[in-house]
Amino acid sequence: MCGIFAYFGPKDNAGELVLEGLKKLEYRGYDSWGIVCKNEDGETIIEKHVGKISDANELRPELTEKPSHIAIGHSRWATHGGVTEANAHPHTTENMDVTIVHNGILENYLELRKELQEKGHKFTSETDTEVFAHLIEENIDKGLEEAFKLALEKAEGRYALLAITKDENKIVAARRGSPLIVGINKENKEYFIASDIPAFLKHTNNVMYLDDEQMVVLNDGVKFFDLKTDQPIEKRIVEIEWDEQSAEKGNFEYFMLKEITEQKETLARAINQDDDLIREVAQAINGAFGTYIIGCGTAGKVGMVGTYLFSHIAKKHINFMFGSEFGSFLPFMTDKSLMIAISQSGETADTLEAIEEAKKKGVKIVSIVNVESSTMARISDIVIPIKAGPEKAVASTKATTSQIAILELLAYACAGKLDEGKKLLVETASQINDMLNPRYEQYIRKLAEKIKDVESMYIIGKDLNYPMALEAAIKLQEVSYIHAEGFAGGELKHGPIALISEGTPCIALIANDHTKQETLSNAIEVKARGGYIIGVSPQNNENFDFWIKVPDAGMASPIISIIPIQILAYQLAILRENNPDMPRNLAKSVTVK
Ligand code: M6R
Repeated sequence: MCGIFAYFGPKDNAGELVLEGLKKLEYRGYDSWGIVCKNEDGETIIEKHVGKISDANELRPELTEKPSHIAIGHSRWATHGGVTEANAHPHTTENMDVTIVHNGILENYLELRKELQEKGHKFTSETDTEVFAHLIEENIDKGLEEAFKLALEKAEGRYALLAITKDENKIVAARRGSPLIVGINKENKEYFIASDIPAFLKHTNNVMYLDDEQMVVLNDGVKFFDLKTDQPIEKRIVEIEWDEQSAEKGNFEYFMLKEITEQKETLARAINQDDDLIREVAQAINGAFGTYIIGCGTAGKVGMVGTYLFSHIAKKHINFMFGSEFGSFLPFMTDKSLMIAISQSGETADTLEAIEEAKKKGVKIVSIVNVESSTMARISDIVIPIKAGPEKAVASTKATTSQIAILELLAYACAGKLDEGKKLLVETASQINDMLNPRYEQYIRKLAEKIKDVESMYIIGKDLNYPMALEAAIKLQEVSYIHAEGFAGGELKHGPIALISEGTPCIALIANDHTKQETLSNAIEVKARGGYIIGVSPQNNENFDFWIKVPDAGMASPIISIIPIQILAYQLAILRENNPDMPRNLAKSVTVK
Protein backbone atom coordinates (compact mmCIF):
# COMPACT_ATOMS: atom_id res chain seq x y z
CA MET A 1 0.00 0.00 0.00
CA CYS A 2 1.27 3.44 -0.97
CA GLY A 3 3.82 3.94 -3.68
CA ILE A 4 7.17 5.58 -3.10
CA PHE A 5 9.59 6.80 -5.74
CA ALA A 6 12.81 8.80 -5.36
CA TYR A 7 15.46 10.10 -7.72
CA PHE A 8 19.04 11.10 -6.98
CA GLY A 9 21.34 11.84 -9.88
CA PRO A 10 22.82 14.24 -12.40
CA LYS A 11 19.63 15.00 -14.34
CA ASP A 12 18.25 18.37 -13.32
CA ASN A 13 14.53 17.56 -13.54
CA ALA A 14 14.27 15.27 -10.51
CA GLY A 15 10.67 16.31 -9.80
CA GLU A 16 9.47 15.38 -13.28
CA LEU A 17 11.27 12.04 -13.11
CA VAL A 18 9.57 11.31 -9.81
CA LEU A 19 6.17 12.34 -11.20
CA GLU A 20 6.66 9.91 -14.07
CA GLY A 21 7.94 7.08 -11.85
CA LEU A 22 5.24 7.55 -9.26
CA LYS A 23 2.52 7.21 -11.90
CA LYS A 24 3.74 3.64 -12.42
CA LEU A 25 3.15 2.94 -8.75
CA GLU A 26 -0.32 4.42 -8.64
CA TYR A 27 -1.84 0.95 -8.37
CA ARG A 28 -0.40 0.78 -4.83
CA GLY A 29 -2.51 3.66 -3.55
CA TYR A 30 -4.41 6.39 -5.31
CA ASP A 31 -6.30 8.65 -2.97
CA SER A 32 -3.74 11.46 -2.92
CA TRP A 33 -0.15 12.13 -3.89
CA GLY A 34 2.73 14.49 -3.33
CA ILE A 35 6.30 15.24 -4.35
CA VAL A 36 9.13 17.19 -2.77
CA CYS A 37 11.98 18.59 -4.86
CA LYS A 38 15.21 19.92 -3.54
CA ASN A 39 16.61 22.51 -5.91
CA GLU A 40 20.16 23.71 -6.48
CA ASP A 41 19.62 26.61 -4.06
CA GLY A 42 18.90 24.10 -1.27
CA GLU A 43 15.18 24.95 -1.15
CA THR A 44 12.75 22.10 -0.61
CA ILE A 45 9.45 22.64 -2.37
CA ILE A 46 6.42 20.43 -1.86
CA GLU A 47 3.38 19.86 -4.04
CA LYS A 48 0.47 17.75 -2.78
CA HIS A 49 -2.99 16.91 -4.11
CA VAL A 50 -6.03 14.86 -3.30
CA GLY A 51 -6.85 12.51 -6.19
CA LYS A 52 -5.03 10.28 -8.62
CA ILE A 53 -1.53 11.09 -9.79
CA SER A 54 -2.46 9.89 -13.28
CA ASP A 55 -4.61 13.01 -13.57
CA ALA A 56 -1.52 15.23 -13.14
CA ASN A 57 0.19 16.37 -16.32
CA GLU A 58 2.87 18.54 -14.83
CA LEU A 59 4.24 19.88 -11.58
CA ARG A 60 3.80 23.43 -10.33
CA PRO A 61 6.47 25.73 -11.85
CA GLU A 62 8.17 26.26 -8.44
CA LEU A 63 9.22 22.61 -8.49
CA THR A 64 10.69 22.72 -11.97
CA GLU A 65 11.99 26.24 -12.63
CA LYS A 66 15.31 25.67 -10.84
CA PRO A 67 17.49 22.61 -11.51
CA SER A 68 16.83 19.83 -9.05
CA HIS A 69 18.75 16.57 -8.64
CA ILE A 70 16.91 15.18 -5.62
CA ALA A 71 13.19 14.46 -5.32
CA ILE A 72 10.96 12.02 -3.49
CA GLY A 73 7.28 11.28 -4.01
CA HIS A 74 4.42 9.28 -2.59
CA SER A 75 1.05 8.02 -3.80
CA ARG A 76 -1.17 7.37 -0.78
CA TRP A 77 -3.64 4.76 0.42
CA ALA A 78 -4.96 6.36 3.58
CA THR A 79 -4.58 4.58 6.91
CA HIS A 80 -4.34 7.22 9.65
CA GLY A 81 -6.15 10.42 8.80
CA GLY A 82 -8.69 11.02 6.05
CA VAL A 83 -8.03 11.74 2.41
CA THR A 84 -7.00 15.40 2.55
CA GLU A 85 -4.18 17.45 1.13
CA ALA A 86 -2.80 17.97 4.65
CA ASN A 87 -2.63 14.23 5.22
CA ALA A 88 -1.01 13.51 1.84
CA HIS A 89 2.75 12.87 1.91
CA PRO A 90 5.45 14.25 1.92
CA HIS A 91 5.31 15.51 5.49
CA THR A 92 7.69 18.09 6.76
CA THR A 93 8.69 20.00 9.89
CA GLU A 94 7.72 23.58 10.78
CA ASN A 95 10.60 25.20 8.89
CA MET A 96 10.93 22.36 6.35
CA ASP A 97 14.22 21.12 7.81
CA VAL A 98 13.26 17.50 7.35
CA THR A 99 10.86 16.12 4.75
CA ILE A 100 9.78 12.50 4.56
CA VAL A 101 7.52 9.96 2.85
CA HIS A 102 6.38 6.74 4.51
CA ASN A 103 4.60 3.51 3.69
CA GLY A 104 3.45 1.42 6.66
CA ILE A 105 2.08 2.16 10.09
CA LEU A 106 3.92 3.77 12.98
CA GLU A 107 2.13 1.93 15.78
CA ASN A 108 3.30 4.04 18.74
CA TYR A 109 2.64 7.34 16.97
CA LEU A 110 0.15 8.66 19.52
CA GLU A 111 2.57 8.45 22.38
CA LEU A 112 5.48 9.83 20.30
CA ARG A 113 3.31 12.62 18.97
CA LYS A 114 2.33 13.63 22.48
CA GLU A 115 5.97 13.68 23.60
CA LEU A 116 6.94 15.78 20.61
CA GLN A 117 4.06 18.20 21.08
CA GLU A 118 5.14 18.69 24.67
CA LYS A 119 8.55 19.67 23.32
CA GLY A 120 6.88 22.28 21.13
CA HIS A 121 6.58 20.51 17.76
CA LYS A 122 3.58 21.69 15.75
CA PHE A 123 1.71 19.07 13.74
CA THR A 124 -0.23 19.91 10.62
CA SER A 125 -1.74 16.51 9.74
CA GLU A 126 -3.62 13.68 11.43
CA THR A 127 -1.18 11.05 10.19
CA ASP A 128 1.11 8.71 12.05
CA THR A 129 3.75 9.53 9.43
CA GLU A 130 4.30 13.15 10.38
CA VAL A 131 5.75 11.97 13.69
CA PHE A 132 8.78 10.62 11.82
CA ALA A 133 9.63 14.07 10.44
CA HIS A 134 9.60 15.68 13.88
CA LEU A 135 11.43 12.74 15.46
CA ILE A 136 14.25 13.09 12.94
CA GLU A 137 14.33 16.84 13.47
CA GLU A 138 14.93 16.30 17.20
CA ASN A 139 18.50 15.16 16.46
CA ILE A 140 19.15 16.85 13.13
CA ASP A 141 22.18 18.67 14.57
CA LYS A 142 23.88 15.22 14.53
CA GLY A 143 23.36 15.00 10.76
CA LEU A 144 20.57 13.32 8.78
CA GLU A 145 21.97 9.77 8.90
CA GLU A 146 22.36 9.73 12.66
CA ALA A 147 19.09 11.55 13.32
CA PHE A 148 17.29 9.09 11.03
CA LYS A 149 18.73 6.08 12.88
CA LEU A 150 17.80 7.56 16.26
CA ALA A 151 14.24 8.14 15.09
CA LEU A 152 13.95 4.55 13.85
CA GLU A 153 15.10 3.26 17.24
CA LYS A 154 11.89 4.70 18.69
CA ALA A 155 9.60 3.43 15.94
CA GLU A 156 7.29 0.47 16.46
CA GLY A 157 5.52 -0.96 13.45
CA ARG A 158 6.21 -1.28 9.77
CA TYR A 159 7.81 1.27 7.56
CA ALA A 160 9.44 2.09 4.28
CA LEU A 161 10.73 5.54 5.09
CA LEU A 162 12.65 8.12 3.05
CA ALA A 163 13.96 11.46 4.26
CA ILE A 164 15.77 14.50 2.94
CA THR A 165 16.89 17.71 4.63
CA LYS A 166 17.44 21.25 3.54
CA ASP A 167 21.09 21.19 4.53
CA GLU A 168 22.46 17.92 3.16
CA ASN A 169 22.51 16.64 -0.38
CA LYS A 170 21.41 13.11 0.29
CA ILE A 171 18.46 10.78 0.54
CA VAL A 172 18.29 8.30 3.39
CA ALA A 173 15.86 5.41 3.47
CA ALA A 174 15.14 2.34 5.56
CA ARG A 175 12.62 -0.44 5.67
CA ARG A 176 10.94 -2.79 8.09
CA GLY A 177 8.12 -4.85 6.64
CA SER A 178 7.30 -2.57 3.69
CA PRO A 179 9.09 -2.89 0.36
CA LEU A 180 11.83 -0.61 -0.96
CA ILE A 181 14.20 -1.39 -3.80
CA VAL A 182 17.18 0.60 -5.01
CA GLY A 183 17.69 0.94 -8.77
CA ILE A 184 21.12 1.87 -10.00
CA ASN A 185 22.22 3.15 -13.39
CA LYS A 186 26.00 3.06 -13.01
CA GLU A 187 26.74 4.61 -16.36
CA ASN A 188 24.68 7.73 -15.61
CA LYS A 189 25.50 7.69 -11.89
CA GLU A 190 21.78 7.69 -11.15
CA TYR A 191 19.93 6.13 -8.26
CA PHE A 192 16.27 5.38 -7.74
CA ILE A 193 14.38 4.11 -4.74
CA ALA A 194 10.94 2.67 -5.30
CA SER A 195 8.30 0.43 -3.76
CA ASP A 196 8.35 -1.76 -6.84
CA ILE A 197 10.75 -2.41 -9.70
CA PRO A 198 8.56 -1.52 -12.72
CA ALA A 199 8.64 2.12 -11.59
CA PHE A 200 12.27 2.56 -12.66
CA LEU A 201 12.60 -0.09 -15.38
CA LYS A 202 12.72 2.69 -17.97
CA HIS A 203 15.99 3.87 -16.43
CA THR A 204 17.62 0.66 -15.27
CA ASN A 205 17.09 -3.02 -14.67
CA ASN A 206 19.92 -3.23 -12.13
CA VAL A 207 18.71 -3.37 -8.57
CA MET A 208 20.05 -3.66 -5.05
CA TYR A 209 17.69 -5.08 -2.47
CA LEU A 210 17.16 -3.37 0.81
CA ASP A 211 16.20 -5.91 3.47
CA ASP A 212 14.31 -5.35 6.70
CA GLU A 213 16.20 -3.37 9.34
CA GLN A 214 18.56 -1.96 6.74
CA MET A 215 19.21 1.59 5.70
CA VAL A 216 20.51 3.08 2.47
CA VAL A 217 22.17 6.43 1.94
CA LEU A 218 22.38 8.03 -1.49
CA ASN A 219 24.84 10.88 -1.99
CA ASP A 220 28.18 10.37 -3.69
CA GLY A 221 27.33 6.76 -4.42
CA VAL A 222 25.25 4.34 -2.46
CA LYS A 223 25.92 2.95 1.03
CA PHE A 224 23.96 0.31 2.94
CA PHE A 225 23.90 -0.19 6.72
CA ASP A 226 22.53 -2.81 9.04
CA LEU A 227 20.37 -0.93 11.53
CA LYS A 228 20.82 -3.54 14.24
CA THR A 229 24.62 -3.59 14.18
CA ASP A 230 25.18 -0.14 12.67
CA GLN A 231 27.72 -1.77 10.34
CA PRO A 232 28.05 -1.12 6.59
CA ILE A 233 26.86 -3.94 4.30
CA GLU A 234 28.07 -4.91 0.86
CA LYS A 235 25.24 -5.41 -1.64
CA ARG A 236 25.21 -7.25 -4.93
CA ILE A 237 23.72 -5.66 -8.04
CA VAL A 238 21.06 -7.95 -9.45
CA GLU A 239 19.88 -7.76 -13.05
CA ILE A 240 16.12 -7.99 -13.44
CA GLU A 241 14.56 -9.82 -16.36
CA TRP A 242 11.27 -7.89 -16.56
CA ASP A 243 11.19 -5.35 -19.35
CA GLU A 244 9.48 -2.00 -19.31
CA GLN A 245 6.91 -3.05 -21.88
CA SER A 246 5.59 -5.90 -19.78
CA ALA A 247 4.77 -3.35 -17.09
CA GLU A 248 2.86 -1.08 -19.48
CA LYS A 249 -0.69 -1.22 -20.83
CA GLY A 250 0.24 -1.39 -24.49
CA ASN A 251 -2.89 -1.21 -26.65
CA PHE A 252 -5.22 -2.11 -23.82
CA GLU A 253 -7.36 0.51 -22.16
CA TYR A 254 -6.90 -1.08 -18.75
CA PHE A 255 -4.32 -3.36 -17.15
CA MET A 256 -7.07 -5.68 -15.98
CA LEU A 257 -8.05 -6.68 -19.52
CA LYS A 258 -4.41 -6.88 -20.58
CA GLU A 259 -3.67 -9.20 -17.67
CA ILE A 260 -6.74 -11.36 -18.30
CA THR A 261 -5.69 -11.72 -21.93
CA GLU A 262 -2.10 -12.53 -20.99
CA GLN A 263 -3.28 -15.74 -19.36
CA LYS A 264 -2.73 -17.36 -22.75
CA GLU A 265 1.00 -17.08 -22.08
CA THR A 266 1.29 -16.78 -18.32
CA LEU A 267 -0.16 -20.18 -17.63
CA ALA A 268 2.39 -21.75 -19.97
CA ARG A 269 5.16 -19.87 -18.13
CA ALA A 270 3.91 -21.04 -14.75
CA ILE A 271 3.94 -24.66 -15.86
CA ASN A 272 7.40 -24.35 -17.26
CA GLN A 273 9.00 -24.91 -13.85
CA ASP A 274 12.16 -26.55 -12.77
CA ASP A 275 10.88 -30.11 -12.19
CA ASP A 276 13.49 -30.69 -9.50
CA LEU A 277 12.16 -27.73 -7.53
CA ILE A 278 8.57 -29.02 -7.77
CA ARG A 279 9.70 -32.50 -6.71
CA GLU A 280 11.73 -31.07 -3.83
CA VAL A 281 8.65 -29.25 -2.49
CA ALA A 282 6.45 -32.31 -3.09
CA GLN A 283 8.90 -34.35 -1.05
CA ALA A 284 8.74 -31.77 1.74
CA ILE A 285 4.93 -31.97 1.68
CA ASN A 286 4.96 -35.75 1.76
CA GLY A 287 7.43 -35.73 4.64
CA ALA A 288 5.86 -32.93 6.69
CA PHE A 289 3.86 -33.45 9.82
CA GLY A 290 1.11 -31.13 8.61
CA THR A 291 1.17 -28.80 5.62
CA TYR A 292 -0.58 -25.44 5.94
CA ILE A 293 -1.38 -23.29 2.94
CA ILE A 294 -1.89 -19.63 3.73
CA GLY A 295 -2.82 -16.59 1.70
CA CYS A 296 -5.17 -13.62 1.73
CA GLY A 297 -7.98 -12.52 -0.56
CA THR A 298 -7.66 -14.17 -3.93
CA ALA A 299 -4.45 -15.93 -2.93
CA GLY A 300 -6.47 -17.34 -0.04
CA LYS A 301 -9.11 -18.72 -2.39
CA VAL A 302 -6.34 -20.31 -4.42
CA GLY A 303 -5.08 -21.90 -1.20
CA MET A 304 -8.54 -23.33 -0.58
CA VAL A 305 -8.58 -24.85 -4.05
CA GLY A 306 -5.27 -26.44 -3.09
CA THR A 307 -6.91 -28.45 -0.31
CA TYR A 308 -9.31 -30.02 -2.86
CA LEU A 309 -6.54 -30.63 -5.39
CA PHE A 310 -4.31 -32.41 -2.90
CA SER A 311 -7.23 -34.51 -1.70
CA HIS A 312 -8.23 -35.66 -5.19
CA ILE A 313 -4.86 -35.92 -6.84
CA ALA A 314 -2.48 -36.88 -4.03
CA LYS A 315 -5.00 -38.29 -1.51
CA LYS A 316 -3.47 -35.96 1.04
CA HIS A 317 -4.97 -33.78 3.70
CA ILE A 318 -3.59 -30.26 3.44
CA ASN A 319 -4.80 -27.46 5.67
CA PHE A 320 -5.69 -23.97 4.64
CA MET A 321 -6.14 -20.80 6.64
CA PHE A 322 -6.13 -17.11 5.77
CA GLY A 323 -2.89 -15.36 6.66
CA SER A 324 -4.77 -13.10 9.04
CA GLU A 325 -6.21 -16.12 10.91
CA PHE A 326 -3.04 -18.15 11.11
CA GLY A 327 -2.12 -16.96 14.61
CA SER A 328 -4.90 -19.13 16.10
CA PHE A 329 -3.18 -22.26 14.83
CA LEU A 330 0.34 -21.40 15.93
CA PRO A 331 0.13 -23.40 19.17
CA PHE A 332 0.40 -26.69 17.30
CA MET A 333 3.06 -25.70 14.74
CA THR A 334 6.38 -27.50 15.12
CA ASP A 335 9.64 -27.77 13.24
CA LYS A 336 8.05 -30.67 11.34
CA SER A 337 5.26 -28.48 9.97
CA LEU A 338 5.39 -27.03 6.48
CA MET A 339 3.85 -23.75 5.40
CA ILE A 340 3.04 -22.91 1.79
CA ALA A 341 2.45 -19.16 1.51
CA ILE A 342 0.77 -17.88 -1.63
CA SER A 343 1.04 -14.25 -2.65
CA GLN A 344 1.20 -12.29 -5.87
CA SER A 345 3.04 -9.33 -4.37
CA GLY A 346 4.95 -11.17 -1.68
CA GLU A 347 4.34 -8.12 0.50
CA THR A 348 0.95 -8.80 2.09
CA ALA A 349 1.37 -7.91 5.76
CA ASP A 350 -1.04 -10.57 7.11
CA THR A 351 0.74 -13.33 5.21
CA LEU A 352 4.18 -12.01 6.10
CA GLU A 353 3.31 -11.89 9.77
CA ALA A 354 2.05 -15.48 9.66
CA ILE A 355 5.36 -16.52 8.07
CA GLU A 356 7.38 -14.66 10.66
CA GLU A 357 5.49 -16.31 13.51
CA ALA A 358 5.74 -19.74 11.89
CA LYS A 359 9.48 -19.33 11.38
CA LYS A 360 9.91 -18.71 15.09
CA LYS A 361 8.44 -22.19 15.65
CA GLY A 362 10.88 -23.70 13.15
CA VAL A 363 8.25 -24.23 10.43
CA LYS A 364 9.75 -24.65 6.95
CA ILE A 365 8.42 -22.01 4.54
CA VAL A 366 7.71 -22.49 0.85
CA SER A 367 6.36 -19.46 -0.95
CA ILE A 368 4.56 -19.28 -4.27
CA VAL A 369 5.06 -15.69 -5.40
CA ASN A 370 5.00 -13.54 -8.48
CA VAL A 371 7.38 -10.81 -7.32
CA GLU A 372 10.62 -12.70 -6.88
CA SER A 373 12.29 -9.71 -5.26
CA SER A 374 9.61 -9.49 -2.58
CA THR A 375 10.05 -9.78 1.17
CA MET A 376 8.19 -13.08 1.16
CA ALA A 377 10.51 -14.61 -1.40
CA ARG A 378 13.49 -13.40 0.56
CA ILE A 379 12.42 -14.85 3.89
CA SER A 380 11.22 -18.21 2.57
CA ASP A 381 13.24 -21.43 2.58
CA ILE A 382 12.06 -22.36 -0.90
CA VAL A 383 10.50 -20.07 -3.52
CA ILE A 384 8.40 -21.21 -6.46
CA PRO A 385 8.06 -18.26 -8.85
CA ILE A 386 4.84 -18.16 -10.85
CA LYS A 387 6.49 -16.04 -13.56
CA ALA A 388 3.32 -14.13 -14.49
CA GLY A 389 5.15 -10.81 -15.03
CA PRO A 390 4.01 -7.56 -13.41
CA GLU A 391 0.36 -7.64 -12.33
CA LYS A 392 -0.80 -4.07 -11.88
CA ALA A 393 -4.59 -4.13 -11.83
CA VAL A 394 -5.78 -4.35 -8.25
CA ALA A 395 -7.98 -7.31 -9.13
CA SER A 396 -5.77 -10.34 -9.41
CA THR A 397 -6.30 -12.37 -12.59
CA LYS A 398 -3.25 -13.85 -14.28
CA ALA A 399 -1.49 -14.44 -10.97
CA THR A 400 -4.52 -16.40 -9.74
CA THR A 401 -4.53 -18.97 -12.53
CA SER A 402 -0.75 -19.33 -12.37
CA GLN A 403 -0.88 -19.92 -8.61
CA ILE A 404 -3.51 -22.64 -9.11
CA ALA A 405 -1.31 -24.21 -11.77
CA ILE A 406 1.60 -24.43 -9.33
CA LEU A 407 -0.58 -26.12 -6.71
CA GLU A 408 -1.75 -28.56 -9.38
CA LEU A 409 1.87 -29.38 -10.23
CA LEU A 410 2.69 -29.92 -6.56
CA ALA A 411 -0.33 -32.16 -6.01
CA TYR A 412 0.56 -34.27 -9.04
CA ALA A 413 4.20 -34.39 -7.96
CA CYS A 414 3.15 -35.56 -4.47
CA ALA A 415 1.29 -38.39 -6.16
CA GLY A 416 4.38 -39.19 -8.25
CA LYS A 417 2.54 -38.10 -11.41
CA LEU A 418 4.18 -34.79 -12.28
CA ASP A 419 4.25 -35.57 -16.00
CA GLU A 420 0.51 -36.28 -16.00
CA GLY A 421 -0.10 -32.95 -14.25
CA LYS A 422 2.06 -31.09 -16.73
CA LYS A 423 0.28 -32.68 -19.66
CA LEU A 424 -3.11 -31.63 -18.28
CA LEU A 425 -1.95 -28.08 -17.71
CA VAL A 426 -0.34 -27.77 -21.12
CA GLU A 427 -3.67 -28.83 -22.67
CA THR A 428 -5.48 -26.34 -20.44
CA ALA A 429 -3.14 -23.55 -21.55
CA SER A 430 -3.93 -24.30 -25.16
CA GLN A 431 -7.68 -24.37 -24.41
CA ILE A 432 -7.33 -20.93 -22.80
CA ASN A 433 -5.60 -19.75 -25.92
CA ASP A 434 -8.66 -20.73 -27.98
CA MET A 435 -11.08 -19.30 -25.45
CA LEU A 436 -9.59 -15.84 -24.91
CA ASN A 437 -10.64 -14.01 -28.04
CA PRO A 438 -12.62 -10.81 -28.72
CA ARG A 439 -15.74 -12.82 -29.69
CA TYR A 440 -15.80 -14.52 -26.31
CA GLU A 441 -15.37 -11.15 -24.59
CA GLN A 442 -18.20 -9.65 -26.64
CA TYR A 443 -20.47 -12.55 -25.77
CA ILE A 444 -19.80 -12.06 -22.04
CA ARG A 445 -20.37 -8.33 -22.47
CA LYS A 446 -23.96 -9.12 -23.55
CA LEU A 447 -24.48 -10.78 -20.18
CA ALA A 448 -22.88 -7.81 -18.42
CA GLU A 449 -25.32 -5.48 -20.22
CA LYS A 450 -28.22 -7.59 -19.01
CA ILE A 451 -27.21 -7.70 -15.35
CA LYS A 452 -25.34 -4.42 -14.90
CA ASP A 453 -28.02 -2.82 -12.74
CA VAL A 454 -28.80 -5.69 -10.39
CA GLU A 455 -28.38 -5.18 -6.67
CA SER A 456 -26.98 -8.59 -5.84
CA MET A 457 -25.72 -11.72 -7.48
CA TYR A 458 -24.70 -15.11 -6.22
CA ILE A 459 -22.19 -17.67 -7.40
CA ILE A 460 -22.34 -21.34 -6.59
CA GLY A 461 -19.89 -24.16 -7.10
CA LYS A 462 -19.01 -27.47 -5.57
CA ASP A 463 -15.74 -29.20 -4.78
CA LEU A 464 -12.89 -27.57 -6.76
CA ASN A 465 -15.30 -24.89 -7.90
CA TYR A 466 -16.53 -23.93 -4.44
CA PRO A 467 -13.42 -21.82 -3.69
CA MET A 468 -13.73 -20.49 -7.24
CA ALA A 469 -17.28 -19.34 -6.42
CA LEU A 470 -15.77 -17.40 -3.51
CA GLU A 471 -13.07 -16.02 -5.78
CA ALA A 472 -15.68 -15.08 -8.40
CA ALA A 473 -17.48 -13.08 -5.72
CA ILE A 474 -14.31 -11.13 -4.82
CA LYS A 475 -13.69 -10.36 -8.47
CA LEU A 476 -17.22 -9.10 -9.05
CA GLN A 477 -17.33 -7.12 -5.79
CA GLU A 478 -14.06 -5.31 -6.18
CA VAL A 479 -14.49 -3.92 -9.65
CA SER A 480 -18.26 -3.83 -10.28
CA TYR A 481 -19.25 -2.80 -6.71
CA ILE A 482 -22.29 -5.06 -7.06
CA HIS A 483 -23.04 -7.12 -3.99
CA ALA A 484 -21.83 -10.62 -4.87
CA GLU A 485 -21.53 -13.71 -2.69
CA GLY A 486 -20.20 -17.16 -3.35
CA PHE A 487 -21.54 -20.34 -1.79
CA ALA A 488 -21.01 -24.05 -1.88
CA GLY A 489 -24.00 -25.11 -3.99
CA GLY A 490 -25.23 -27.55 -1.37
CA GLU A 491 -25.25 -24.85 1.31
CA LEU A 492 -27.82 -22.66 -0.43
CA LYS A 493 -30.79 -24.57 0.89
CA HIS A 494 -29.51 -24.10 4.44
CA GLY A 495 -30.15 -20.37 4.41
CA PRO A 496 -28.90 -18.23 1.52
CA ILE A 497 -31.66 -19.36 -0.85
CA ALA A 498 -33.92 -16.96 1.06
CA LEU A 499 -32.05 -14.17 -0.74
CA ILE A 500 -33.20 -15.27 -4.18
CA SER A 501 -36.08 -13.34 -5.76
CA GLU A 502 -37.37 -12.80 -9.30
CA GLY A 503 -34.45 -12.14 -11.65
CA THR A 504 -31.58 -12.50 -9.13
CA PRO A 505 -28.56 -13.62 -11.15
CA CYS A 506 -26.98 -16.83 -9.94
CA ILE A 507 -23.81 -18.02 -11.63
CA ALA A 508 -23.33 -21.77 -11.42
CA LEU A 509 -19.78 -23.03 -11.97
CA ILE A 510 -20.39 -26.56 -13.17
CA ALA A 511 -17.48 -28.82 -14.03
CA ASN A 512 -17.98 -31.93 -16.11
CA ASP A 513 -17.24 -34.25 -13.20
CA HIS A 514 -18.90 -36.07 -10.31
CA THR A 515 -20.28 -32.76 -8.97
CA LYS A 516 -22.10 -31.84 -12.17
CA GLN A 517 -25.53 -33.24 -11.36
CA GLU A 518 -25.63 -31.88 -7.83
CA THR A 519 -24.56 -28.36 -8.77
CA LEU A 520 -27.09 -28.42 -11.58
CA SER A 521 -29.80 -29.42 -9.09
CA ASN A 522 -28.74 -26.52 -6.84
CA ALA A 523 -29.04 -24.16 -9.80
CA ILE A 524 -32.50 -25.56 -10.61
CA GLU A 525 -33.57 -24.91 -7.01
CA VAL A 526 -32.57 -21.28 -7.50
CA LYS A 527 -34.39 -21.11 -10.82
CA ALA A 528 -37.55 -22.43 -9.18
CA ARG A 529 -37.45 -19.34 -6.93
CA GLY A 530 -37.17 -16.93 -9.84
CA GLY A 531 -33.37 -16.81 -10.13
CA TYR A 532 -31.68 -16.04 -13.46
CA ILE A 533 -29.25 -18.90 -14.03
CA ILE A 534 -25.92 -18.28 -15.70
CA GLY A 535 -24.23 -21.60 -16.33
CA VAL A 536 -20.43 -21.65 -16.68
CA SER A 537 -19.96 -25.13 -17.97
CA PRO A 538 -18.67 -27.26 -20.85
CA GLN A 539 -22.24 -28.29 -21.73
CA ASN A 540 -25.39 -26.23 -22.13
CA ASN A 541 -28.49 -27.11 -20.14
CA GLU A 542 -32.15 -26.24 -20.63
CA ASN A 543 -32.21 -24.65 -17.19
CA PHE A 544 -29.59 -22.08 -18.05
CA ASP A 545 -30.90 -18.62 -18.90
CA PHE A 546 -27.42 -17.75 -20.16
CA TRP A 547 -24.67 -20.20 -20.97
CA ILE A 548 -20.94 -19.41 -20.88
CA LYS A 549 -19.14 -22.27 -22.51
CA VAL A 550 -15.83 -23.33 -20.99
CA PRO A 551 -13.60 -26.21 -22.03
CA ASP A 552 -13.75 -29.46 -20.11
CA ALA A 553 -10.50 -29.35 -18.16
CA GLY A 554 -10.87 -32.06 -15.52
CA MET A 555 -8.76 -31.29 -12.48
CA ALA A 556 -7.80 -27.95 -14.05
CA SER A 557 -11.42 -26.80 -14.08
CA PRO A 558 -10.88 -24.05 -11.43
CA ILE A 559 -8.42 -22.37 -13.80
CA ILE A 560 -10.90 -22.53 -16.63
CA SER A 561 -14.03 -21.49 -14.74
CA ILE A 562 -12.65 -18.30 -13.22
CA ILE A 563 -11.58 -16.73 -16.54
CA PRO A 564 -15.08 -15.87 -17.85
CA ILE A 565 -15.91 -14.39 -14.45
CA GLN A 566 -12.82 -12.19 -14.64
CA ILE A 567 -14.07 -10.98 -18.03
CA LEU A 568 -17.59 -10.46 -16.68
CA ALA A 569 -16.27 -8.46 -13.72
CA TYR A 570 -14.21 -6.32 -16.10
CA GLN A 571 -17.15 -5.70 -18.44
CA LEU A 572 -19.43 -4.80 -15.53
CA ALA A 573 -16.85 -2.31 -14.27
CA ILE A 574 -16.67 -0.66 -17.68
CA LEU A 575 -20.45 -0.53 -18.11
CA ARG A 576 -20.88 0.92 -14.63
CA GLU A 577 -18.13 3.46 -15.36
CA ASN A 578 -15.80 2.18 -12.67
CA ASN A 579 -12.06 2.15 -13.16
CA PRO A 580 -11.31 -1.59 -13.06
CA ASP A 581 -7.61 -1.04 -12.42
CA MET A 582 -8.09 1.12 -9.36
CA PRO A 583 -11.24 0.15 -7.51
CA ARG A 584 -12.36 2.40 -4.69
CA ASN A 585 -10.98 1.80 -1.18
CA LEU A 586 -8.48 -0.82 -2.34
CA ALA A 587 -4.78 -1.02 -3.15
CA LYS A 588 -2.72 -3.61 -4.94
CA SER A 589 -0.48 -4.76 -2.11
CA VAL A 590 -1.96 -4.72 1.33
CA THR A 591 1.11 -3.96 3.39
CA VAL A 592 -0.79 -2.95 6.52
CA LYS A 593 -2.47 -5.23 9.03
O1 M6R B 1 -0.29 -9.90 -3.15
P1 M6R B 1 -1.16 -10.94 -2.54
O2 M6R B 1 -1.48 -12.05 -3.47
O3 M6R B 1 -0.64 -11.45 -1.23
O4 M6R B 1 -2.52 -10.18 -2.23
C1 M6R B 1 -3.53 -10.79 -1.49
C2 M6R B 1 -4.84 -10.04 -1.63
O5 M6R B 1 -4.74 -8.77 -1.12
C3 M6R B 1 -5.28 -9.98 -3.10
O6 M6R B 1 -5.41 -11.24 -3.66
C4 M6R B 1 -6.63 -9.24 -3.22
O7 M6R B 1 -7.63 -9.99 -2.64
C5 M6R B 1 -6.93 -8.94 -4.69
N1 M6R B 1 -7.28 -7.56 -4.83
C6 M6R B 1 -8.03 -9.73 -5.24
O8 M6R B 1 -8.26 -9.49 -6.58
